[in-house]
Amino acid sequence: MSHQDPLVVFTPSGKRGRFPVGTPVLTAARQLGVDLDSVCGGRGICSKCQITPGYGEFSKHGVTARDGALSDWNAVEARYDEKRGLKQGRRLGCQAKVQGDIVIDVPPESQVHRQVVRKAASARVIEMDPATRLYYIVVDEPDMHTPTGDLERVARALKDQWEIAEITCEFPVLTKLQPVLRKGKWAITVALHKTSATATPSIIAAWPGLHEGGLYGLAIDLGSTTIAAHLTNLDTGEVVASSGIMNPQIRFGEDLMSRVSYVMMNPGGDVEMTGAVRDAINALAEEIAKEAGISTSLILETVFVCNPVMHHLLLGIDPVELGQAPFALATSNHLNLTARDLDLTALPASAQIYILPCIAGHVGADAAAVALSEQPGKSEDLVLIVDVGTNAEILLGNTTRVLACSSPTGPAFEGAQISSGQRAAPGAIEAIRIDPVSKEPRFRVIGCDKWSGEDGFWDETAASGITGICGSGIIEAVAELRIAGLLDPSGLIGSTAQTGTERCFAEGRTNAYLIFDATDQGGPRITVTQGDIRAIQLAKSALYAGARLLMDEMGVEVVDRVVLAGAFGAHISAKHAMVLGMIPDVPLDKVSSAGNAAGTGARIALCNLAARAEIERTVLQITKVETAIEPRFQEHFVAANAIPHATDPFPELGKVVELPVVGFNTQGDGSDGGRVRRRKRG
Ligand code: FES
Repeated sequence: MSHQDPLVVFTPSGKRGRFPVGTPVLTAARQLGVDLDSVCGGRGICSKCQITPGYGEFSKHGVTARDGALSDWNAVEARYDEKRGLKQGRRLGCQAKVQGDIVIDVPPESQVHRQVVRKAASARVIEMDPATRLYYIVVDEPDMHTPTGDLERVARALKDQWEIAEITCEFPVLTKLQPVLRKGKWAITVALHKTSATATPSIIAAWPGLHEGGLYGLAIDLGSTTIAAHLTNLDTGEVVASSGIMNPQIRFGEDLMSRVSYVMMNPGGDVEMTGAVRDAINALAEEIAKEAGISTSLILETVFVCNPVMHHLLLGIDPVELGQAPFALATSNHLNLTARDLDLTALPASAQIYILPCIAGHVGADAAAVALSEQPGKSEDLVLIVDVGTNAEILLGNTTRVLACSSPTGPAFEGAQISSGQRAAPGAIEAIRIDPVSKEPRFRVIGCDKWSGEDGFWDETAASGITGICGSGIIEAVAELRIAGLLDPSGLIGSTAQTGTERCFAEGRTNAYLIFDATDQGGPRITVTQGDIRAIQLAKSALYAGARLLMDEMGVEVVDRVVLAGAFGAHISAKHAMVLGMIPDVPLDKVSSAGNAAGTGARIALCNLAARAEIERTVLQITKVETAIEPRFQEHFVAANAIPHATDPFPELGKVVELPVVGFNTQGDGSDGGRVRRRKRG
């Protein structure tokens, strides 16, 4: 390189250097450490190296790029353009050679470490740093005089063509390597996977010729009630399909402790439950691949986040130790496994499995995933994060300290164990308002932006129908019943006579509220029953008690902000959450939604190898608080039963809504006064 050599400036990185005339742009990029992708190693067949040259005056960079600063369009590019089409202004970086000073832009699609914007409410970006990458190689043919094995020649090709010093090979790939090499006429693509930035890469798949079918990964949030999966393109980070199913282990017990009890009472019960969940994951993988129109053979990585009992049952470890203090985990470390280890037969045997580390005791890999997604340890102000499933994962922290606990809320917030409850899906009521005067409801369902009663609502919901009520809908319903004076602070629904509306009707010895009735057209009758109110009281008390326990431990009475995540979908009304007494009192503009934080944490770990290392370090700094043995948890739980919370001052709530004074305890209906009993961990 001399002072006379042309100057090459890459954007957006700003990296620059002088290169001799005739240097391919890809070579210049590599020498400067510019993030420019390549699978074929510069052979002009993969098109991953596309760049956009910039001509003219670039005063910012001190460069004037003249016509002819890059070599002319060559035959390889012309052939590629003819067959596949190159976007206007694009060149192949491995073919275009430097002739003069030039500015080269690397578009996001050509960057390995591109950023993927998360679609959820907060615009967190995920940076691509994939653990698995593709390499196209041309392998020497065997010959009688140099009798090396095929794998050894593959290793040599990777060393010579990609400077990869050492590799290993997954056994299932080794068994198929010879036919792949011969079918590819000694040119093959291998997928190399690394468990860490410094680990020796391993061949986890091989294809004849250039593999253009893509690589995919699954991010799976394995919950006690539902299993949710996001199929992600490991090249672009894009989620190509999402799907969820109920966890079939529910038939062995609805909550975690009843599943542990099942194992205690039924020898071999753990094996049954392990088989059930693995079968479900296999079915889910097949379904989601079908939905995306890809073969499951392309799903080469899967990341799991789950609570400790699910974690052990997925791994085939008896969870009985988690049923008793001191709640010892078999291991809290992260795990790198293969699909073969877990009998995930829908996936290739050598597909890689990464399970996030657990924090400790009942605070599992799902809480670690929330920490990875929401990063409380990087927050300057004190943030309370609640991710609600059948257990709530609760984190409280800032840059000085992070605490975490898991609280047994039960499945009510997921719409389960609610009389008209359902998962968040088209047709589910997700928002509801009750007129305080007429006591009449109006509602919105998932899949339609209009409120019931607005023009076009019935047309737009004709396809989905009105099918039930989801987690955010039931929270709003309970809070709205309270605001409208149809529910008293102890959680009792009033009778027709007490409330003056026939929407409140007697059901057995208690009352219920009718939201929607389509029984005359063969449709559903959607109500909120006294049992539903109890389930929600129980869930919100457990959630609140968990949050308060962390605040006690931190020695604070207030938090600066609250992040709500989990089963509520993208939005939950902060006002309704506060009327319900679900969360500690904070200014409403300090409450935000984060969608499914545990699922997002799984996606981040799937797409970014450095993030795995980060969470493996971070979990060691998080302090676990165990709700199961903490007497103050019970005190906070009991104190939190009322709607809203009876003893917290709630000055903020008073500013946004005036709650009517009502009391239905004297109705003599045999009710137990709305008291709720604490649920076992679930
Ligand atoms: S590196 Fe593959 S086409 Fe340029």
